[in-house]
Amino acid sequence: MPDQPRRPAEVSPMLAALRDGTRDHHTAVERRLDLPDRIRTRGDLAAVLVGLLAAWAPVERDLAGADWSGLPLAPRIGEAAALLRTDLTALGVAVDRPADASSGLDLTTTARAVGGRYVLLGSALGGRVIAPEVERRLGLRAGEATGFFRRAGGEPGRDWRTFRVAVAGREWSAEELTDGVEAARSTFDLVGRVAAG
Ligand code: HEM
Repeated sequence: MPDQPRRPAEVSPMLAALRDGTRDHHTAVERRLDLPDRIRTRGDLAAVLVGLLAAWAPVERDLAGADWSGLPLAPRIGEAAALLRTDLTALGVAVDRPADASSGLDLTTTARAVGGRYVLLGSALGGRVIAPEVERRLGLRAGEATGFFRRAGGEPGRDWRTFRVAVAGREWSAEELTDGVEAARSTFDLVGRVAAG
């Protein structure tokens, strides 16, 4: 029997719910972080990266330990906290060794983990717009202390597509859709609260 046609990512109910259900959250975080306008000096960039690391590291830790059994996706896809540490080191900022703290969010189930990962992977889409502008303002070389925004050494476009194809490739119950959106909203809120101060 031929394979069932895969559901295109554009019409996946989970992906549509995540986008529609977090549109206002994205706008709010964008306003709060105010990038790249907030970055006028290297010190500004360092402060932003410290804030982002405080949000990213615990969420990535939680996502790495979530239950991904419901989805064929690498539990650590697109991780970027290490890039924040490298960027801070390049700016001469001492970085504490990775803390073992949890984000306090409930990202345990596959649906909830999808919501959290959606926010972290999606942020790279904005990062590629922000990076060249930050470099121009501060006179940095491409990727110099902007490795996080660029996801240097990674393949953010491929990760984003891999994520979307995996999520679109299975059915989600109404409860899972609600959980995924709720987790994505709380991840956006956490980034806004922790990273924007
Ligand atoms: C503050 C500066 C930001 C700007 C200027 C920005 C800009 C953008 C842009 C232009 C896109 C659409 C890209 C495309 O469709 O190809 C996008 C998508 C997205 N961004 Fe941001 N972003 C910012 C911050 C963030 C942050 C901090 C997060 C997460 C914490 C985030 C999460 C997302 C997500 C999840 C998407 C995907 C939406 C979807 O298609 O479902 N963004 N952003």
